[in-house]
Amino acid sequence: MCGIVGYVGHRDVVSVLFSGLTNLEYRGYDSAGIALNDKGDIKIYKTLGKLINLKNELTERKSELIQPTSGIGHIRWATHGSPSLINAHPHTCTCGKLVVVHNGIIENYKELREELINKGCNFRSQTDTETIAHLIADEYSKTKKLEEAVRNSVKKLQGAYAICVMHKDEPDVVVGARKHAPMLVGVGEGENFIASDTPAIIEYTKKTIYLDDNEVAVITKDKIKITDINGNEVVKKVEILPWEPIALSKLGYKHFMLKEIHEQPDVIRNVLNGKLYDIDAPIALNEVKIDKDTLKKLIKIEIIACGTSLHAALVGKYIIEDFAGISVEVEASSEYIYRKTTTDSSTLVIGVSQSGETADTITAIKQAKEKNAHVLIITNRPDSNMARLADSLIPVNAGIEVSVAATKSYTAQLISFYLLAIHLAEIKGGLDKSYLKNLKHELIQLPTKIEEVLSNTSAIQECARKFSSFKNFIYIARGVNLATAFEGALKLKEISYINATGYAAGELKHGPIAMLDETMPVLSILIPGGISYEKILSNCEEAKARNAKLIALTSSTDSNLDSLFDVVLRIPPVSEILSPAITCVPLQLLAYYIAEFLGKDVDQPRNLAKSVTVE
Ligand code: M6R
Repeated sequence: MCGIVGYVGHRDVVSVLFSGLTNLEYRGYDSAGIALNDKGDIKIYKTLGKLINLKNELTERKSELIQPTSGIGHIRWATHGSPSLINAHPHTCTCGKLVVVHNGIIENYKELREELINKGCNFRSQTDTETIAHLIADEYSKTKKLEEAVRNSVKKLQGAYAICVMHKDEPDVVVGARKHAPMLVGVGEGENFIASDTPAIIEYTKKTIYLDDNEVAVITKDKIKITDINGNEVVKKVEILPWEPIALSKLGYKHFMLKEIHEQPDVIRNVLNGKLYDIDAPIALNEVKIDKDTLKKLIKIEIIACGTSLHAALVGKYIIEDFAGISVEVEASSEYIYRKTTTDSSTLVIGVSQSGETADTITAIKQAKEKNAHVLIITNRPDSNMARLADSLIPVNAGIEVSVAATKSYTAQLISFYLLAIHLAEIKGGLDKSYLKNLKHELIQLPTKIEEVLSNTSAIQECARKFSSFKNFIYIARGVNLATAFEGALKLKEISYINATGYAAGELKHGPIAMLDETMPVLSILIPGGISYEKILSNCEEAKARNAKLIALTSSTDSNLDSLFDVVLRIPPVSEILSPAITCVPLQLLAYYIAEFLGKDVDQPRNLAKSVTVE
């Protein structure tokens, strides 16, 4: 999950590469590098850490450049070899004439490396990527044509790659190729682009060609040629990006994460738009391409996802079982792919992913398809790899999410699950009509209730200040909010590096309670009127008896809570079953403000990347 950009054209090449890489920095920030074709010379610049270091370096060394007309750039999330200058991309062949940037993992790089060393290649790094540079250079020595050398070389690669390549002897040509890693071409006038993702090109063009696996793109400033791996030209559709560069701006917020948290009411309105417009009408979910009779008989659903999307899946399981009575299994994609599953042609498999790029989930989806299951994808990126594998596709329309920590895409996934669960319930016909109406009515009210939470965050900020020095946290909940406890704890871990774990409240006494003392705050989610409130209160009493500091997140107005709990964070009244769409918001804010107080890099937390395109 590195980010790559390639450019040939009339603009200032360094600025184009930096602007593209800046908008891809969510993909990795261990090191950055660019290679420029400058009047027939290949010039390479690399720095450790974030892109800003490379920008500073280039500012100092600008006088070295004459007039670059093409270039490739890279930001790295290390897989093979530690984050170091020697391992930073671009990598070169032995003579330094050929440069490569790469996103993905080459599985057979050791064998190839040995062959190439035997041929006299001089390896300098520990990366799998350097093998690609030597391999293409070896082919180039035979063909003297970069395009052909790339095609011949990628045939020998096993694993995943999106690469951009330049050669000193073919100035102003950039060649890209992909397999199991995203890559697109940006179509300009007198200029063309190659990139890992659309934010890299949006400032310059909205015209995009998505490459498919085993395709090779050759760009010059005036021409784009796309071939298959055997050199046959492929005619591709030019698509127009449906969003504006403004989506990549913080709009006055200190961090993208805070902006994205505040966008959630509108995101929910967007997801509901056109699907839930009248509480008396059935949910219009035409995206599910399974006929009603088959859906009526559906008895098994499997949901596969990772991280935050996995937590949305857990809420999905709870509500589909509750509303539609269909049995649902949820599994981390990385576990699903390594065991014998019982998936078959009668199973509906749902893949959930913000990015639509997560390698584990893509592999799991492919396995499910091999077993003839119908695959429904819920994603924020309808242009992604995963979306292309879908038999049915529900785009969640949360808009580009820049912050590495997922927030608005999570609520959009939750709302999509509510719509799906109600849709299935309506087809199955098991739910009481007035209950359904109330549910729909309350769904429509959710954005306004979240706006209420967002309009006054002072209690959350105060709580964050009070607890920011604690090193460990426990989050507890029961039922439908158990996933919220997991997600709240994950948010805190991801951006503040504080150890936080979510537990089923009833499990506390079966082990975790041993950890409780005054240094271990317990945050509990308490929604009255449902099935879990009283039981969780008792669990909180048990924690209090062990001197734990208590934080309540609740829609209760009961003033007695103020004496039991050290802090009470209140949200508007909400039914327990729909509450995960609201309870997640104060927990996102709590994590945000704690990380902010601790001075952490909120939008780009250490060791993480937004799309995890390696298994
Ligand atoms: O793009 P996906 O939803 O498939 O990504 C899955 C996880 O990598 C992702 O949710 C991760 O946990 C985020 N950092 C959450 O904030």
